[in-house]
Amino acid sequence: MPAFNLDTCARPNILALEPYRCARDDYKDDGTNILLDANENAYGPSLLNSTAIPANQGPSLDLTTLHRYPDPHQEPLKQLLCTLRTTHAHTPKTLTPANLFVGVGSDEAIDALLRCFCVPGRDKILVCPPTYGMYSVSAQVNDVGLVKVPLLPAPEFGIDVPAVTAALSSPESDRVKLVYLCSPGNPTGSLLRKDDIRAVLEHSTWNGVVVVDEAYIDFSPAEASLAEWVAEWPNLVVIQTLSKAFGLAGIRLGAAFTSPAIARLLNSLKAPYNISSLTAGIAEFALSEGGGLAKMRENRAKLIAQRERLVREMPMIPGIGRLRGGEDSNFLLYEMLDKEGKPDNVTALAVYEKLAETKGVVVRFRGKEHGCLGCLRITVGTEDEVTRFLASLERTLAEVRGTAPAADEEQKEVAASSIVA
Ligand SMILES: Cc1ncc(COP(=O)(O)O)c(C=O)c1O
Repeated sequence: MPAFNLDTCARPNILALEPYRCARDDYKDDGTNILLDANENAYGPSLLNSTAIPANQGPSLDLTTLHRYPDPHQEPLKQLLCTLRTTHAHTPKTLTPANLFVGVGSDEAIDALLRCFCVPGRDKILVCPPTYGMYSVSAQVNDVGLVKVPLLPAPEFGIDVPAVTAALSSPESDRVKLVYLCSPGNPTGSLLRKDDIRAVLEHSTWNGVVVVDEAYIDFSPAEASLAEWVAEWPNLVVIQTLSKAFGLAGIRLGAAFTSPAIARLLNSLKAPYNISSLTAGIAEFALSEGGGLAKMRENRAKLIAQRERLVREMPMIPGIGRLRGGEDSNFLLYEMLDKEGKPDNVTALAVYEKLAETKGVVVRFRGKEHGCLGCLRITVGTEDEVTRFLASLERTLAEVRGTAPAADEEQKEVAASSIVA
C-alpha cells in the first residue's frame, strides 16, 4: 500500500472547499428548459445571424495555423479593448495595450490578482456581500483570508464607505491586499457610486489595490465604465468580460485594465498561451466596428427592453415583493412573498424548484445571500422567454402559496379563455 493519504497530503484549505455550484448542477440544459439562471446573453453571440460564418463576413479564423502556439501578448485584441473603453468621460488620458491583462474569462483575472498580491496563509481580501461568489472561492483556493464588510441595505446596495475605511485602518489592515467591488453588483444589479469607489482608492494609510468587477457594465448607462480611470490611479484594477453583453461565455475571454506596472506583473505570472487563437480571433471580431459591435448593441437594446418589461409586469403578479437591487444589469433580484405578504426563503426555494421541475424555467435562488431574504435572481431572457417566464411564475407562485384555482376550476378557466380567444 502506498503511504499516500489525500487528507494529509492536500492543502487543508483545498480539502475544505465546497465546489462552486450553479443552478445547472440541479437542472441540466436538456434543450427544452429556459435558462434564466446564469446571466448569459439570451440573444446569442455578437457575431452574425447565421450559425455558419460565411467567408469574409466573420472572424478571420485561420484553421491552417492551429499547429502554432497562439500569440502570448494579444496586442491587437488589447488595442480593440482600449479603443472600446477609452471614452474620455473619466480622464483625458488614453488607454494602451500596456494597461491590459487578458485571461480565460474574468475568473482568471480574479484569481491572478490574488496570486499576485496575497501571500497564502497570511494575507486577506476584503469583499462586500452580497457579491459574486468566485472572490471567496479563489481566496480559499489560495489560502487567503476574507474580511467581509456588507453593502448598505437594499435597494441601494452601495458601499458602506465608513465601514470599509475603518476595516482598512485597523491594526490588521496591512494584511488586506485587495478590495473586490462588483459594479454593477451580482446579485444586486446596482452600479456603485463613483465617489464611493474614489473614497476607497484615496484611503490615506492602506497599502492595497481596489478591484472593480464590471462584468455587466454594458447593461448600465453609457459611460458608466471606469476602465479608463486606471490611467489616473496606480491602485485600481477594472475587470471585464465578453461573457455577458457580448454573448460569448463559451470562448472564455476576460480582461483586467490597470496600471502598466500591475499589468506587467499579471502578464508575468499567467500561463504563456492562456488565450487560444480561436478565442482571440472571435473576440477581435466581436470587438470591431463593422464586426460584432453592432450585434452586441442590437442584442443589448433588446435585453434592456425586456428588463424594462419585467420591471413593469413583475409587480402585477400576486406574491411578488420588492425589486431589491438596481436595474443596471441583465438580471433582476425580486422577493417572493409568503401568504402573509412577507419575503420568505421557503416560498422562494419552492418557487425555484417548481419552476424548474414543472415549467422548465431555471432561475437562481439567492435567499441565503446577505440582505437577499426571499429573493430569486432572474436573468433577462428573449421576448418569448420572458413571456413564458412571467406566465410560469404567476402560476407557480399561486401553487406554492396555495392560491391556485383547483384543477377543475382551472379547466373551466382554460375553456372560458379559449371561447373568448
Ligand atoms: C460579477 C461577475 N464577475 C465575473 C464573472 C465571471 O465571468 P467570466 O465568464 O468572464 O469568467 C461573473 C460570471 O457570472 C460575474 O457574475
